[in-house]
Formats: sequence, C-alpha cells, structure tokens
Amino acid sequence: MVNDAQGWIATAEAGGIRPGDVHVWRIGLVQPERVIQHYRELLAANEIERADRFYFAKDRTRFTVARGAMRQLLGTYLSLGPREISFVYGPQGKPDLAAPQSASGLRFNLSHSGEIALLAVARNMELGVDVEQIRPDFASGEIATRFFSPEECAKLTTLNADQSIDAFFNCWTRKEAYIKARGEGLFIPLDSFEVAFAPGEEPALLQVKSGDEFFSRWRFHALHPGPGYKAALAVEGSDHVLRLWEWSPQYLPGI
Ligand SMILES: CC(C)(COP(=O)(O)OP(=O)(O)OC[C@H]1O[C@@H](n2cnc3c(N)ncnc32)[C@H](O)[C@@H]1OP(=O)(O)O)[C@@H](O)C(=O)NCCC(=O)NCCS
Repeated sequence: MVNDAQGWIATAEAGGIRPGDVHVWRIGLVQPERVIQHYRELLAANEIERADRFYFAKDRTRFTVARGAMRQLLGTYLSLGPREISFVYGPQGKPDLAAPQSASGLRFNLSHSGEIALLAVARNMELGVDVEQIRPDFASGEIATRFFSPEECAKLTTLNADQSIDAFFNCWTRKEAYIKARGEGLFIPLDSFEVAFAPGEEPALLQVKSGDEFFSRWRFHALHPGPGYKAALAVEGSDHVLRLWEWSPQYLPGI
C-alpha cells in the first residue's frame, strides 16, 4: 500500500468492506493500450456495444477503463471474477448488482470526468458520487440559474470572483451526488432541494422542498481527487467511516 499526499491509498483490493464502511476508489482513465485491451476483455457484450458507439476514441477508452475497473473492484469485494459480475438497471439507468449478487447488500456508484473516475462502494447504504473537471467558463450565472435553486443562486452571487468557481462546482457535484444517490436522475427537479456549498460550509443537504424525502437521511462528503477536479459523495445514514483508495492497473494480474 502506498499513501499519497491527498490520503488516497494505492492498493489492489481493500480487503472486504465492513458494515458502516464507505470506500471510494480513484481510477486513472488514461492508460496504455495493453491495459485498455485487458479491460475491454472484461466487459459484457452490451458494454462493448456501448463503448463502440462513442464517436471519439478517447471517450471509448475512458468508458472501457472505468467499466473494466468497476468490474474488477466489485469482483474483489464479492470474491468473483470481473466477468461474473452482472448488472441490472433502475428506471433512470442506475446500475445495481443483479441477483444473486445483490443479496450481498453491496451498493456502488460510478462517476467519471476528464481523466478520473470515482467508484463509491458500501454495504446496505444507498450512495451517489460525482466528479467534475473544473471548467471555469462553465461556472456562469446563466448556468447556475438553469440548474440551481433560487436560494443557491442567491448565495452564489454573494461570493467574490476568487471563490465563485470553486463554489459553483461544489454546488454542482453535491447536487449531482444527491440525484445519483436517489437514482432518479432529472426526475428530481434541481430547484426542489438545496445543498450547502459556500466556502467554509460543511457539505450537507439543507432542505428538500417536495415529496416525502427527509433531508437528514443523507450525509455528504467533499472529495479531493486531484488538482482541477471537484467531487462529492452522498451516503444514506450518518454513521459511517470513509476510506479512500487509489486503483492502479499495475496490480492487475498479467499486466
Ligand atoms: C447518470 C446521471 C444521473 C449523471 O450523469 P453524469 O453526471 O453525466 O455522469 P457521471 O459520470 O457522474 O455518472 C455516470 C455513471 O453513473 C451511473 N448512473 C447511470 N444512471 C444513473 C442514475 N440514474 N443514478 C445514479 N447513477 C447512475 C452509471 O454508472 C454511469 O456510468 P456509465 O455512463 O459509464 O454507465 C445523468 O443521467 C443525469 O441525469 N445527470 C443530470 C445532469 C445535470 O443536469 N446535473 C445538474 C447538476 S446541478
């Protein structure tokens, strides 16, 4: 195991996951051809079809590496080979383990942006993760008005220029992590809930304006996957221990 400056520990497998543990894996998506080929061989036919539909080779290989690494890592938790993992999809596309693997209670969520993917894993706790590469030109008031709640937009306008790009992506990733934890995609109106995101504010869900959702059901974490990226994790419940791992293909057998 190697510990890097941001606390992500490089390892091949985390050695199981206890109730109350939440593991987040950082996966580097830029890999040499032999690794991409190895990961491609781990994919199911429908995943290869999906990979091949990407127009740009860069998107194809990043999807392939993220999926391959996800299969490999879920396999280590379940003591199964990566090809043995099978998925089912929720109504809005959230992947979950198919039976009988679902009986393990293992829950996971994947996010990718730029050159990084994050895979969050827990047992019997729903969760959502989001990573975004920071694009300063995207962090505009116009985009905020389209995607954030009126309260979030008002808060954003009180911040100075130095703070506002970071705050914008904190808000974006926390909202996205929540939506992904719920699994309902954009069926949850983005202005129907409010997250804490200003500098110095602990990540949290501040209010939910509709439905029977209770805001204290979720705990939020800000993740720091590397310079130029923002990330957030939403986990059901309050009692858990977060562990950060770095996946590297050098640990793959035969690579
Ligand atoms: C999937 C979704 C929920 C997130 O998409 P995204 O941010 O572009 O992509 P991410 O990389 O974070 O997540 C994609 C992964 O999440 C998982 N996923 C797919 N559908 C999901 C869902 N409904 N819920 C949770 N996870 C989902 C998959 O593993 C997917 O990986 P894949 O594309 O390799 O199969 C998207 O459908 C969506 O609706 N996003 C809303 C976008 C938006 O307007 N956000 C505003 C935030 S303020």
